[in-house]
Amino acid sequence: MNIHTFENEQELNEAGAGIITGLVQMQPGAVLGLATGGTPVGIYEELVKAYKKGRVSFKKSTTFNLDEYVGLPEDHVESYHAYMKQHLFDHIDIPAGQIHIPDGNAPDLIEECKRYNKELEKAKQIDLQILGLGHNGHIGFNEPDHSLVSGTHLVELKQETREANARFFASIDEVPTHALTMGVGTILKAKSILLVVRGEDKAEIVHRALTGPIQTEIPATLLQTHPHLVVLLDAAAGRYFK
Ligand code: F6R
Repeated sequence: MNIHTFENEQELNEAGAGIITGLVQMQPGAVLGLATGGTPVGIYEELVKAYKKGRVSFKKSTTFNLDEYVGLPEDHVESYHAYMKQHLFDHIDIPAGQIHIPDGNAPDLIEECKRYNKELEKAKQIDLQILGLGHNGHIGFNEPDHSLVSGTHLVELKQETREANARFFASIDEVPTHALTMGVGTILKAKSILLVVRGEDKAEIVHRALTGPIQTEIPATLLQTHPHLVVLLDAAAGRYFK
């Protein structure tokens, strides 16, 4: 595990984007696992800048998003489909057919999970999985539980996750109660993982996740078992690592 702490958010963003562009430059057909939420926004901004400067092309890359809310229309500004377009896909040259995001509006959600798993199987392996971290230690929307699920599945979001994400909605009542998420098996199968964590409010959980006992009640602790994990922390999130 390689942990880097940054005093400056911009440097963190550039380092995160640099890892992704470095991979895609060397391996244009790379399979990228993407996260949403507040954490990767600055990294996506840097990716767009790199693309606009002609430093990288995503024409041959494939992407798989970690998750999507259930029942939120795709064109709702807070859907992860809309988020990805707004922050990345509308500004780079990735062909639409190479983008994968679970469909939280599919008529049969269980079938949709199976379909997503099949697409992931066809891609064989994610080369680089980008992750944020929930305050309760979730990765993707794999919430703390007695056991964890390997493949893509339907989850009920924990109240604390809905509260954390309420900042993006008019009120907590508008935050969906369920989501589809890639499972921890798929996440851990990625060749490399880039975990990005920001903010004082995540300092304790990221420290427990990376140094505490491995347990399904803190899903991110399983990342300790991954052979190629890179962690980027801002100074506030990294305070217990100093
Ligand atoms: C998002 C995702 C979640 C977030 C996590 C942190 O696709 O899978 O695990 O990474 O909830 O969210 P932010 O970055 O908004 O603090």
